[in-house]
Amino acid sequence: VEVIVLSTAEEAVRLVARVVARSVRARPDLVLGLATGRTMEGVYRELVRLHREEGLDFSRCRTFNLDEYVGVSSDDPRSFRHWMQEHFFRHVNLQPANVHLPDGMAADLEAECLRYEEQIRAAGGVDLQLLGIGRAGHIGFNEPLSSLQSRTRVKMLTPVTIRQNAAACGGEDRVPRRAVTMGVGTILEARWCVLVALGLEKAEVVARAVEGPITSMVPASALQLHPRCTVVLDEAAASLLS
Ligand code: F6R
Repeated sequence: VEVIVLSTAEEAVRLVARVVARSVRARPDLVLGLATGRTMEGVYRELVRLHREEGLDFSRCRTFNLDEYVGVSSDDPRSFRHWMQEHFFRHVNLQPANVHLPDGMAADLEAECLRYEEQIRAAGGVDLQLLGIGRAGHIGFNEPLSSLQSRTRVKMLTPVTIRQNAAACGGEDRVPRRAVTMGVGTILEARWCVLVALGLEKAEVVARAVEGPITSMVPASALQLHPRCTVVLDEAAASLLS
C-alpha cells in the first residue's frame, strides 16, 4: 500500500481528483469505480470544476458505484443514485447509459447482484476504484466479518454504520437496514484502488487497515493484498500511523 499524506483535507481531495482526471485523459473510456459519502463530496466538487474549467471529458467514461441501499428508489433523496446525481452526474457529461449502480429496488436481489457482477465483467473490469472507509473498517458496505473473497451481495448494515449515515438520511430510523454492495473480492479485482480518508475520526481505522493484520474484522485491511493500492490521507487521518 502506498500512503500519501497531505496537510489538509482540501489538498487530499484535490490530489485524488487530479489522479482521476489524469486517468480519464490517458484513457477516455476508463472504467471508474465510485463511492458516495462525505469524504467523496470534495472529490466530486473538484472533478466538476475540472470538467467546467478545464474541459475534462467524461463522455466515454463508464462508471460503477460500489453500493446502493435496498428498497429505496432512485428519486428518494436517501438513495445513492440520487446522491450521485446531485453531487456529480448532473454536473458532468457522463452518458446515462454508461452510469451503473446496483438496483436496490430489484424484485430478485440475488439476480441483481449477479447481473451487476456481469456488467462489470462485460465492461472489462474496473480500472480505478475510489473508496472511502467506514469507522468500523468497511469498504463499500462490506461490514466487519465480510469474507475477503465476497462478491456483490446484500449486506445488513451494522449499528455503527447506521449511526454514521443517519444525518444523510434524516435520522437513524430512516437509514435503510440493507444494501447491495460490491464484495471485497470484487473490489480487489479493480486494477487500481484509491482509498481516501479524512479527519481524526478515521485515524484509528486507517491505522488498523493499513498497518494491522489482514482480517475480515477490518475489511479494508484486505487492500494490503492488492498489488496497486494508494491511500490518500490528510494529516489528521494519518496521525496514528507509526
Ligand atoms: C459509500 C461507501 C462507504 C463510504 C464510507 C465512508 O458508497 O462505499 O464505504 O465510503 O462509509 O463514508 P464517509 O465518507 O461519509 O465517512
